[in-house]
Parts: sequence; structure tokens; C-alpha cells
Amino acid sequence: MTSRRQFLGATAAGLLTAARSRGAKTFSDVYPFAEFESRIAKRNFRDLTKDLLPTPCMVVDLDMFKANVKHMADTAKANGISVRPHVKVHKSVDVARHQVAHGAIGLTVATIAEAELFSGAGIKGVLWTKQPVGINNTQRAVLLSKKDPTFMFVVDDAQVVDWVEEAAAAHNTKVKIVVSVYAGMARQGIEGGKPALELAQKVSSSKRMTFEGFMAYSGRAAHTKGFEARKKFSMEVLSGVRESRDLAKAAGLPVNIMSGGSTGTYNIDHETGLTELESGTYVFMDTEYFIVGGQDGDMKRYNDWKAALTVMTTVDSQHHPNIITTDYGNKVLVKKTDEVKGMPWLEVGTQGAEYGYVKWGDGDKAPKLGDRLEIYCTNLDQSTNAFDRYYIAQGDRIVDVWPIMGRSGAAQR
Ligand SMILES: Cc1ncc(COP(=O)(O)O)c(C=O)c1O
Repeated sequence: MTSRRQFLGATAAGLLTAARSRGAKTFSDVYPFAEFESRIAKRNFRDLTKDLLPTPCMVVDLDMFKANVKHMADTAKANGISVRPHVKVHKSVDVARHQVAHGAIGLTVATIAEAELFSGAGIKGVLWTKQPVGINNTQRAVLLSKKDPTFMFVVDDAQVVDWVEEAAAAHNTKVKIVVSVYAGMARQGIEGGKPALELAQKVSSSKRMTFEGFMAYSGRAAHTKGFEARKKFSMEVLSGVRESRDLAKAAGLPVNIMSGGSTGTYNIDHETGLTELESGTYVFMDTEYFIVGGQDGDMKRYNDWKAALTVMTTVDSQHHPNIITTDYGNKVLVKKTDEVKGMPWLEVGTQGAEYGYVKWGDGDKAPKLGDRLEIYCTNLDQSTNAFDRYYIAQGDRIVDVWPIMGRSGAAQR
């Protein structure tokens, strides 16, 4: 007869074998966690696999990321349009360098701190898409222009041109200026046509300024559902910037660049009049973009890009039917519109700062205690602000760690 001790021993051994045969680690497979940070600092990723990472954390699938960057580069080249990708999504010098290696002509940034960071990393052709207002922003824009003459920034107001002129004179330097034109979003842009022309002429008449061209970005076009509707809307909403370009050229002003565009309009804007794309999200993708639909006619899914980034979370408590707790909570910006990789039927939600949940319906396949779920986040601009590194994975292996640098806080001062 089998004793209780023999039975438990046999069961444990059986479980261990089963776990091993599935390739899963056990508590006796010791990774030197005391050395975790020092190994990362030394870029020693030996034996580091996804299941060992602290959660919640951001994981990038390297092959998918590379495929996205290549697809953008190839399509832009085929369409005769340049790429000056926006960094607000990834906030990473490593990502930016990969983009530049694949033909990006520079970078687009949202803040002066991002501009300083990426220019300081040696990347040329940084375009800041918000006009400098206030002493802090204006001095820094002018000083960066002095240090890096390839840096450009936008203006949409004659008053700002005067302030910039004064600061540029005080620092005895020249600045490169792009006029921002309204493209359907109240947040910025002078009216297209005559008002934009007059601002361009004011810029170009200054000894301290070089007029580079126009920018018109439409976030509404970017997320319009369906390729044909998106194209139609983009054509309409950029009519003002096309008119501005035509008037400027007729008035003898050279228009070197027409900047704008997005992940949603990357294969449209060579027809809307733009000469370069500011697309950002395509490197990783988020669920706001999953649903815009592509040129392939799929209205529910945007298949042009691979979902390269997930937030990994651990399922860490379960006491109630059809709901389980995760460590993906408000602090890392969990949203109801997030999606679980491979288990799209799961509903994602919050239970507090460090607590999230996933729920499912009767009969659905359910996660269990100890599982690790990978979650596609809703808006990368925001989510990447809540983490300080990407773990770069090939399959289950971690092959690199890239810092997320241009975040709120110290890096944005
Ligand atoms: C000015 C500007 N340009 C470009 C982009 C990039 O767009 P997307 O991430 O949709 O490709 C953004 C994103 O918000 C933006 O604000």
C-alpha cells in the first residue's frame, strides 16, 4: 500500500517533471536576483527570461519592432516621402537610433526637454512641434538652436516670433522655424492660407530666422476608421496647409518641408501634400490603433503593424468566480480598452493603484493564479511615461534593456 508520504512525494516529483518537461522554471532553478540590476548594468542577459522579470513591466518583441521600422522605411521610400518619427510614443534613444539607421531624416519631439535629450544624443534634424512660450522654453529653444543648427521648432503666432527674435538676438544666434498650420485640432496652428503666409513672411524677413516650411498634424485624421474615410478626411483637413504652401511658393518663399502625418496616415500623406511623416505609434502599436482598419479592407483590425509591446503582469490572487487579480493597476495606467495578448475575451480593469483585474464570462478560458499575462495598452504616449525601461525580448529570452528616458519628472525639466 502507498503511504501518504510516498503519495505526496510521488505527486510532487510528477509535478516537477511535468513542469520541467514544459520548460517552466521551478524555485530550485535559481537566478541570482541579488545581481539583477548589476547584470543589467553590465548588459549581461545570460539566463534572463521573461518569466523572471519583475512585474508590471514593459516588454518589447525585438523582431516585431524591427519589422515595423522596416515596413515604415520601405513604404515611405516607395512613396517618395521622408520619415521624421515622433519620439513621444517611445521616449527612447535606442529606438530612435534604430529609426535613424533605417533612413529617418531626424526626429519629431513634443517638448523642449525631449529636443535637448535627443539632440544631446547626437541625433540631427530634431523638430519640436510646440511653439516656445515663456522665458524657460524660449531661451532653451534658442540655446539649442545655437548648439545644434539642425534643430527646428514651430511657431503659430506673430507674438512668439517677436519673443524668439529677441531671445535669438540676446544670444547672437539664428534659429530654424516651421510655421504650424491648423489641421482640425483646436490645440494649435494658425489658419491656413493668407494668415499662414503672412506669418511665414514675418519669419523669413527676420535676420535671425530661417523659414523652413509648414507643419500640419491631424490626430483626428490619424484615428479615423477605415482607410478610404481616413484618406478623404486627411485630404480635407490638410487643404489649408496646401494652400499656405502654394501661396508661399508664389510669394517666392522656399518651402523645404511640409511635416505632419501619423501611423494611421503613413500610406496616405504622400498624396495630401506632405513631404515628411511624423508617425510615432507604429514602432510598438496600441489598442487605440488596433481598431482603425487598414487598406486591406479589414475594418476591425489595422494589420499593417505588429503589436510589439506588452505590459507583463502577474496574476496574484483569486477568490471570486470569473475575476482574478493582477498587479497591473492605476499606477501603470491600466485602462478598460486594454487587451490581453492571446486572450482577447478577457476584460481588463482596475482595483486600485497596484491592483488590476481580468474578468471573463461563463465558459471562457480563464487565467489562473501565478500566470503571467501580457497586455496591449491603450495609449502608448501615456503608458510609456509610467515605466523606466523596456525589456527587449526574442522569444522568451531577454536580449537587451533600453531605458525610457524622456518621461515626466527629471527628464522633462
Ligand atoms: C504633433 C504630432 N505629430 C505626430 C504624432 C504621431 O502620431 P502617431 O503616434 O499617431 O503616429 C503625434 C501624436 O500624438 C503628434 O502629436
